[in-house]
Amino acid sequence: MIIEMKNIRKSFGSNDVLKDVSFMIKGGEICALLGENGAGKSTLMNILGGVQPTDSGSINIDGKQVVFHAPSQSQEAGIAFIHQELNLINDLPIYENMFLGRELKTKRGSLDLERMHQETIKMFKQMDVDLNPKTMVRDLDSSYKQIVEICRAMMTNASIIIMDEPTTSLTDQETERVFKMMKTLKDHNVGIIFISHKLNEVMQFCTRYVVLRDGNLVAQGNVSEVTSKDLARFMVGYDVRTDPLLREKKLGKEILRVEGFTYYHVFRDISFSIKSGEIVGVTGLLGDGRSELFQSIFGAEKVSSGKIFLNGKVVSIKSTTQAINEGIAYLPRNRKENAIIKDMNIMENASIVTWPKFSKKGIINKQKHEETFREQSKVLKLKMGKLTDSITSLSGGNQQKVVLAKWLATSPKLLILDNPTQGVDVGAKEDIYDIILKLADENIAVVVLSSEAQEIIRVCDRALVMYHGVIQGEVALEAMNEHTIMSLATGGQLS
Ligand SMILES: Nc1ncnc2c1ncn2[C@@H]1O[C@H](COP(=O)(O)OP(=O)(O)OP(=O)(O)O)[C@@H](O)[C@H]1O
Ligand SMILES: [Mg+2]
Repeated sequence: MIIEMKNIRKSFGSNDVLKDVSFMIKGGEICALLGENGAGKSTLMNILGGVQPTDSGSINIDGKQVVFHAPSQSQEAGIAFIHQELNLINDLPIYENMFLGRELKTKRGSLDLERMHQETIKMFKQMDVDLNPKTMVRDLDSSYKQIVEICRAMMTNASIIIMDEPTTSLTDQETERVFKMMKTLKDHNVGIIFISHKLNEVMQFCTRYVVLRDGNLVAQGNVSEVTSKDLARFMVGYDVRTDPLLREKKLGKEILRVEGFTYYHVFRDISFSIKSGEIVGVTGLLGDGRSELFQSIFGAEKVSSGKIFLNGKVVSIKSTTQAINEGIAYLPRNRKENAIIKDMNIMENASIVTWPKFSKKGIINKQKHEETFREQSKVLKLKMGKLTDSITSLSGGNQQKVVLAKWLATSPKLLILDNPTQGVDVGAKEDIYDIILKLADENIAVVVLSSEAQEIIRVCDRALVMYHGVIQGEVALEAMNEHTIMSLATGGQLS
């Protein structure tokens, strides 16, 4: 199958998102669709997926013009779309989710649950996915939800699959699994449009690339003929730095100390401390327990034993509200599921944790609050329309910036950032790193949780590497390199 999108234009009000974009994909290739946050990648795919109409231009499939008025028409034409935001129903088991909108029926017209169950088992076997189809979706880790979405798309026997940032919240191991699936599909002559901000993935797995900037297609070609530095430059229009960000440290008093923190098999005997002005990384592989550990410190999860000291005093944090009042902020690992309320507008989303700070006797000083948020969004180069626009009108990376701005506005003493650059483009990543350094300069203690060793090396003063719920080792200076981190993360010892 060959799909050609020709001279596509799309505006939202005065925002000309796609000015004149022509894009092509054919079976058997994996084409990376790249561009900064808000460049129009999802919008272009929404048009191909029948989610949104185009203002002008045309779509041809194998030389014949088609017009999609609804997602179902695009699906019937052989296009499957895995959206940037998850689209599963929590209260149904996996196998029913696999057939949403195209349920199998018995001859008498009722749902054929048995056949849907069997088909799902077959699919999982083919894709080497180790999941029980009867599990309720609500009980799945978000990464597994993503994998279910991918399998569902594959089940439609699509000729072209659109994957809008499928790996943003996946660990390396899970990402591997997705790539294995993609390779199988490519070998079966399926064409894949792959949107990602992780350029190393693009370099490794894509055959072709296309870059959008300022509403135009600015570069395209074969991945084998470029470097990831080239791709980054095409996206943002200038050279992106990759060297470690050296800084002058002035560490203050100890802010947080954790002693013997334990939660059954999730994490054990965790002890460490962090000073004001310090940036500490925490990394590891799937099942290392780092997110759970910091959720516990933030009062969102219980612990079975251990002590926390804040500013030298022992505290018992029983709720997240208490944690916020103690000056702790926590940016969660998965924006799609834990940080955004889809039915609220931008300002409401930004206010959720900050309104107590801007209110006196229960009355919120709205103007002051909005001013503060505007200032922060300027620093973060947040691309948005009005504060009252729906949060879902923002591109994925810009939603992430709203969440970051929201936590910064709590003026924390200890800032915990779990997967802080999920879904943000290479340029904005640098902006976020600069902000982290600036915050440390302002004497905030920052913890960066990340599975990307490179990210840890770039911004952190030192890093704790976890393995199966324990701190396997601590690295700093020259020892903070990819090789040592990986060796600790897989259970090795510091030599
Ligand atoms: N439904 C909508 N209403 C209004 N504006 C929208 C809507 N959908 C997208 N936009 C705007 O269109 C622009 C492009 O958004 P899009 O989601 O296509 O970006 P993207 O390239 O996918 O970015 P990201 O990498 O952050 O996901 C943004 O400025 C966004 O705010
Ligand atoms: Mg997008």
